[in-house]
Amino acid sequence: MTQLRFPENFLWGAATAAYQIEGAARDDGRGTSIWDTFSRTPGKVHQGHTGDVACDHYHRYAEDVALMAELGLGAYRFSVAWPRVQPDGTGPVNPRGLDFYDRLVDALLDRGIDPIVTLYHWDLPQALGDRGGWTNRATAEHFATYATAVYGRLGDRVSVWTTLNEPWCSAYLGYGSGVHAPGEQDPAAAFAAVHHLLLGHGLAARALRAAGARTVGITLNPADVRPADESSAADAAAVRLVDGLHNRIFLGPLLAGGYPEDVLEHVSRLVEPTFLRDGDEKQIAAPIDLLGINYYQPTYVAGRPDGAGGGGAYPGTDGAVEFLPPVGPLTEMGWMVEPAGLTRLLERIAADYPGVPLLITENGAAYPDKPGTESPGGPIQVADSDRIAYLDGHLRAAHEAISRGVDLRGYLVWSLLDNFEWAEGYRKRFGIVHVDYLTQRRTPKSSARWYQEVISRNGL
Ligand code: FCB
Repeated sequence: MTQLRFPENFLWGAATAAYQIEGAARDDGRGTSIWDTFSRTPGKVHQGHTGDVACDHYHRYAEDVALMAELGLGAYRFSVAWPRVQPDGTGPVNPRGLDFYDRLVDALLDRGIDPIVTLYHWDLPQALGDRGGWTNRATAEHFATYATAVYGRLGDRVSVWTTLNEPWCSAYLGYGSGVHAPGEQDPAAAFAAVHHLLLGHGLAARALRAAGARTVGITLNPADVRPADESSAADAAAVRLVDGLHNRIFLGPLLAGGYPEDVLEHVSRLVEPTFLRDGDEKQIAAPIDLLGINYYQPTYVAGRPDGAGGGGAYPGTDGAVEFLPPVGPLTEMGWMVEPAGLTRLLERIAADYPGVPLLITENGAAYPDKPGTESPGGPIQVADSDRIAYLDGHLRAAHEAISRGVDLRGYLVWSLLDNFEWAEGYRKRFGIVHVDYLTQRRTPKSSARWYQEVISRNGL
């Protein structure tokens, strides 16, 4: 295979999220989040797993940062747990919660690793959840206050700030399909959540900027939506509908001045959009310096009057759209491996929403540890050639997008560590570093060593 070099200053890193790795759920005044409540509710998460201990990163962050340095990471994307900073989501700041991120940021900077902060990766304080969570407009305002508090403590050392991680998941999986916290199944709640998340982003982005933040952005998980049949008009209509609900409902207000007409019409057919007030779209359109893209797999759809639709995650697609089952090879999540989807997605976003630098804030794959790769007593070896192949393919796809002119600034692998994979609990392992949950021992997998080489060569 040809050798590929990435641009100079291309950022190489890894990503994690607070609830998935920190543990220490009751330490130092941390409040309860909707994910604590959800995971402690029987039947919601695989085998009742919770993030109570997770990777115990809260206590082992120094070891983890040393590992990042060993791998040569230039950047580390982590999220701040709102309930550590404001246990009830509003009111006084808990300094001990901020102390943790303060220590983490210093440890990263000591090793020359750029911290990339995500302010919200799904762990809403339960007290706000009790008042309707993201269906309540006030949550958006509280989010901006919280963002300002975090900036006040870390802003002198952190230059890259992102507001939300994947608001699509927070809104549609949290309030539509109910597979994520808080587990509601109501299209009206899902659309209200979409809007209030966006509003929260806009208010927080403005507050961060006013406080002096240099680089402000947001991370989406835009879908590469493809037709089953390129020549079918019905399939093209299905693509447009799904693209509207998944992508343009976010990208429009963030980067094109407002919600697209066709999306608003679709939403209005299903619910009364009373949440949308004059001036909101202007708030949401706060200028951003960076758009984070999380990509895992493409979405194939067909237009069919008897289509089952995408359930609560895609309100109003039943009787119009058939989501095609993924075709192998699949990852352990059952997700399709199609690197070309990443190239298409990056090119499409760069073309339709020009002028915003892009950063791949997540990409990676879950694969089971192969039997026989762990040697009893001796050092664990995880020979994850399937993960290496996945990452290699997607890095080539990212490089292809760059060579076609996309302003892509870097790549962050999901994830540094095996961790709590939401409703799947600990059974799905995304890490390039293996975590033994009984001993908390970390062992770099083959993919970590491979990635270390890629970083040191700045290429493949
Ligand atoms: C993304 C989430 C991240 C992780 C990966 C596999 O949707 O942002 O927390 O769970 O999927």
